[in-house]
Amino acid sequence: MNKFKNLINKKNKSKIICLTAYSKNIASILDNHCDIILVGDSLGFVLYNFKSTRSVSLDMMIQHSKSVRMGVNNSLMVVDMPHNTYRNNSEALRNAKKIIFETKCDAVKLEGGKKIISIVKYLIKNKIQVMGHLGILPQSQKGKFRFKGKKLVERIKILNDAKLLEKAGVFSIVLECVETSLANTITRELKIPTIGIGSSSSCDGQVLVTDDLIGLNSINVRFVKKYSNVTKYINSAIINFKNDVKKKKFPKKKNSF
Ligand code: KIV
Repeated sequence: MNKFKNLINKKNKSKIICLTAYSKNIASILDNHCDIILVGDSLGFVLYNFKSTRSVSLDMMIQHSKSVRMGVNNSLMVVDMPHNTYRNNSEALRNAKKIIFETKCDAVKLEGGKKIISIVKYLIKNKIQVMGHLGILPQSQKGKFRFKGKKLVERIKILNDAKLLEKAGVFSIVLECVETSLANTITRELKIPTIGIGSSSSCDGQVLVTDDLIGLNSINVRFVKKYSNVTKYINSAIINFKNDVKKKKFPKKKNSF
């Protein structure tokens, strides 16, 4: 069975695990545990301190994805198409092909619903596998991020967008900060899996930014749970190294030639 059918078949059977990676070493750890590894344009926030993911370029995504690819053997590898790389059909196809050709990823992710539906259909018609992304859309968001689905019009729009994306042929949809009962309705009404971030346990799977989860990126938002404090472990290793060098305990003879 192909990787995508396999993933869709997990719906209602087994929760789907998705995490972000921006480089080989992290990707190779995640690869033993994840169904999907996402090279997210969140790397603009996490690695480059950008104020918005709109500043992330195609070259940056490709460069990081090439590194990630070296660590991925089992998981589905999905790469975010950055802002302004899918404004019309031909631009989207050219850039999606470039991403897939250069990084050997399995699929691309695009943000939006009805507004980009003809582009999504065009990519799929051209044999590009697409993951959807609804709720908070960081590439179009102006101002503060606020959860989605409070107002009825917004709820109806997001549900319709999800149905349109499914009909267009996406294999899965990320729901970012969507109100619980709406995430629940979308998940129930779709045959493809929903992957939530800040969208409750109703979703078919969950995604987080790995650097947030392991405590490498200091972020304090409601939908992140910090499972480790990697910064602390790195600090202690560096202090030990520094002390050893100062006290001439490192390098030893066995470390020398
Ligand atoms: O860019 C990203 O990492 C994402 C996830 C947070 C879903 O889109």
